[in-house]
Amino acid sequence: MIILGIETSCDETAVAIVKDGKEVLSSVVYSQIKEHTPFGGVVPEIASRSHILKLLPVYETALQEAGVTEDNVDAIAVTTKPGLMGALISGVTFAKSLSFALKKPLIDVHHIYGHLLAAFLDGDEPAFPLLALIASGGHTTIVRMDDFDKVSTIAKTIDDAAGEALDKAAKLLRLGFPGGPAIESYAQGANHLRVEFPIAMADKLDFSFSGLKTSLRTYLMKNPQMDEQTKKDVAASFQEAVMDTLCSKLSMAMNESSIKNILVCGGVAKNKRLRTKLDALGGKLILTPMQYCTDNAAMIAAAGYFTYQQNGEAPLNIIPTAHAPTLDRQ
Ligand code: KG4
Ligand code: ZN
Repeated sequence: MIILGIETSCDETAVAIVKDGKEVLSSVVYSQIKEHTPFGGVVPEIASRSHILKLLPVYETALQEAGVTEDNVDAIAVTTKPGLMGALISGVTFAKSLSFALKKPLIDVHHIYGHLLAAFLDGDEPAFPLLALIASGGHTTIVRMDDFDKVSTIAKTIDDAAGEALDKAAKLLRLGFPGGPAIESYAQGANHLRVEFPIAMADKLDFSFSGLKTSLRTYLMKNPQMDEQTKKDVAASFQEAVMDTLCSKLSMAMNESSIKNILVCGGVAKNKRLRTKLDALGGKLILTPMQYCTDNAAMIAAAGYFTYQQNGEAPLNIIPTAHAPTLDRQ
């Protein structure tokens, strides 16, 4: 089954063509980073306008690169939740129009389920059950997966997400946007032991990152005149605390569930320091391919394949939702 996926939940306009939920025929992503950089973060109105301008060219490129025509496409999958409302509406309206005009079923995809499925793109068959850490700009969650369509939440953040913490820290350190990659390259080779930032709720599975951000702000207020090397060490220490938090909760979940198969996905999964630390956990690790960690439409097409098998097609009057209910599916 060939699925055309569409992703516009935040600041990437993406269209992809994926066969049978796994084989990527094309994956085209237009990143709006440059448009949002002057504002230090994503501006929702700019995101929506940019999606409207880019969707058609990105769609045409995706078909061309896959070497397929609209006739070869069996269904249209689109992110309907969660995300920025105006951004979601752009993609969903585009998908509905395609579905109506081409007479192909529409599939309603949960963005975070897409992040999970990204781990299997162009890769091996997964061994279930597994524990999946989803660490992105908007979500930080550990779920248990017993099959492609059986997902239950084990832990979630009670405040900020891991990527959000890195984005906010980079803003405080004036390192630019998006914060995760900015901190990673700035902290390269620096001393991560310089400042000991706390791991919040160390004895619980749930995450909390807002205290960590406050610790950084307090540190910066107490040390207003840092030389360049100290600033690099502070950035490295902050990154270390975020990655230690992710790994320690995952390790706790592994011990409690006795599950040793681990999957890691979402934008933060690109981080090399995190990847090194995950190796030390001792499980059987599935790391999402780098190009499918941050938002893309191949993951939406893959998630669309399994969602279609489980739920069938979505009605053409479906409306997007900014705050999605749980990711759990049985
Ligand atoms: O999955 P994603 O593209 O969007 C959401 O669904 O949120 O993730 C974006 C997040 C941002 O917070 C960004 O700072 C973070 O992923 N990120 C990274 C890296 N690349 C992107 N965090 C740490 N290290 C990276 N290399
Ligand atoms: Zn995402």
